[in-house]
Amino acid sequence: MTSTARPVTIATLKKMKEEGKRISMLTAYDFTMASLLEQAGVDVLLVGDSLGMVVQGHSTTIPVTLREMIYHGTMVARAAKRAMVVVDLPFPHGQLGVNKTLIVAARVMKQTGCHAVKLEGGAEQADTIAAMVNAGIPVIAHVGLRPQSVHALGGYKVQRDADKLQRDAMAAQQAGAFCILMECVPQDLAKLITDSVAVPTIGIGAGPHCDGQVLVTNDLLGLTVGRVPKFVRPMTNLAEQIQSAVEHFNSEVRSGSFPNANESFD
Ligand code: KIV
Repeated sequence: MTSTARPVTIATLKKMKEEGKRISMLTAYDFTMASLLEQAGVDVLLVGDSLGMVVQGHSTTIPVTLREMIYHGTMVARAAKRAMVVVDLPFPHGQLGVNKTLIVAARVMKQTGCHAVKLEGGAEQADTIAAMVNAGIPVIAHVGLRPQSVHALGGYKVQRDADKLQRDAMAAQQAGAFCILMECVPQDLAKLITDSVAVPTIGIGAGPHCDGQVLVTNDLLGLTVGRVPKFVRPMTNLAEQIQSAVEHFNSEVRSGSFPNANESFD
């Protein structure tokens, strides 16, 4: 993918839905990984608050701060040439009501250089989404399993309340969200929603019928410590490759064969 490729915009994603072209979204938390994903042609880079779990080692996304999101968002935005960069509003900043959330979203846009923000919620966030959109801030609404509400939801569970999900998706679209992300939703329900909204849907654990798919990049690359969710398909095992490279390094250092003459200065 060359840097002269046209940047991915809201209109690009809408056109992709209309033409039946699937959207690829992956999480990125730093410049190096974002550059690699960008070069491989990912459409959307999501600076997800999942970084609280995969980078920071927390058991939920709840401890992630606004400052941390801005810190990681800035690194990712610096790498993006073609891909759209979306930054998550961390807990509780996306849930503080219209005025406070608007100020936070504006700060995220201004300080990171991202193109859009994502916030968790649907119908209950309609006023906030509308205010952000009116202020020129593009918004993705995250419905279904909302990890910031994991304790209120009683765990990381598939969300089967069809009425609520449809209400959330329709309200988010009506409020002006340009995309709807659905997490852990039965595939038939995800299809129903995808077919009934004009904006693209992106699924994670929501089956094959969404307009696009997102995964946590560490899960995709086999870098996750511990169990990965059922909906992940790891495409490689980087953890094994890293471990083997490091063991190799250890043994070369310990045997004295690294560094050799070519790797040293006279
Ligand atoms: O934070 C995140 O990475 C996300 C994805 C799981 C969609 O919201």
